[in-house]
Amino acid sequence: MSATWGNNFKITIFGESHGEAIGVVIDGLKSGKELDLDFIQFEMNRRKPGTSTLATPRKEDDKIEILSGLFNGKTTGAPLTGIIRNTNTRSGDYNNDLLRPSHADFSGYVKYDGFNDYRGGGPFSGRITSGLVFAGAVAKEYLKDMGITIGSHVLSVKNESDMYFDPVNLDVDLLNNLNKETFPVISKDKKEKFINIIEDARKNRNSVGGVVEVACVGLSAGIGEPFFNSIESNLSSLFFSVPAVKGVEFGLGFDITKHTGSEVKDEPYVDSKANSSLSDIKFKSNNNGGINGGISNGMPIVARVAIKPTPSIGQSQNTVNIKTLENTNLEITGRHDPAIVSRVSSVIEATMAIGIFDLIK
Ligand SMILES: Cc1cc2nc3c(=O)[nH]c(=O)nc-3n(C[C@H](O)[C@H](O)[C@H](O)COP(=O)(O)O)c2cc1C
Repeated sequence: MSATWGNNFKITIFGESHGEAIGVVIDGLKSGKELDLDFIQFEMNRRKPGTSTLATPRKEDDKIEILSGLFNGKTTGAPLTGIIRNTNTRSGDYNNDLLRPSHADFSGYVKYDGFNDYRGGGPFSGRITSGLVFAGAVAKEYLKDMGITIGSHVLSVKNESDMYFDPVNLDVDLLNNLNKETFPVISKDKKEKFINIIEDARKNRNSVGGVVEVACVGLSAGIGEPFFNSIESNLSSLFFSVPAVKGVEFGLGFDITKHTGSEVKDEPYVDSKANSSLSDIKFKSNNNGGINGGISNGMPIVARVAIKPTPSIGQSQNTVNIKTLENTNLEITGRHDPAIVSRVSSVIEATMAIGIFDLIK
């Protein structure tokens, strides 16, 4: 099981949803950095369930405990370990014999010969992402010192869509304001529509998915590598590691194929004539999402991530009993979000912070 990611900012996640605790070990942090623990806890709270009426009623404290790597409020340079103890678990809600459609019950059972901890989804649970949010918050603390801001919003829910980020003049204040929300949406009227769609799904014991748009502003040109540690490959590997992510695109993404080269060219220009330097070179458009050849070009990095509808739905579904190998029916009774897209936005932000910081260091 590969639970480790990164080169310079190396993270190892551990734990299962209904085990003793979950967490992350972060290796490679520079010593002497004062961490704002209130900010970090705030980030954790954005992801945790039970913060909105739409979220799963499983209320978790998600209180981060730091076990190592911090002394007198400052990083020591030793691995920083954060854990979140599991409380409010109801393992009785879970039965590993009946395979939940679109969940990891079958694939996980086969891979681990049935020895996997299936309670609450075990290592496949969205809860494991709280370690990522902790690591992302720590990375954000270091990135802040470099003038780099990362933010996200719920771009769409089912077939209802809000406006995209302006990829050329992306306002840092907008990102900071979105970062204060548990359900970050640019347009207030869209938020209401999103909530209605989710509420309808909940009433029908169904679920819906959506798209998270995430951006990074303030990253100077020249960060990233061609090929395997390109910004796109680094970030994609992190985004796709988040459960329920089924698509990733940068810049114009798949839509870029609908245009000619002349329509989507990102033309450079010099911003100021006096004392011009390389940092005065800007681009008139940003169809490439701030990345050329895997390397940042100084424009905002913009990506979109598709989150599928929550697999656990209350409606009756056809399935298989893995023990008796018989076709049967399943009605899931546990506590599940009708849409996880708003909670996942904080996770996607965290993974972008981890990926960018790993490339900068
Ligand atoms: C923050 C978060 C919360 C999640 N909550 C649930 C949930 O309540 N019920 C559920 O069935 N799946 C939930 N998921 C999704 C499953 O973990 C995921 O669909 C499953 O592990 C299968 O992986 P895959 O969708 O990537 O194939 C959640 C995912 C995330 C990131």
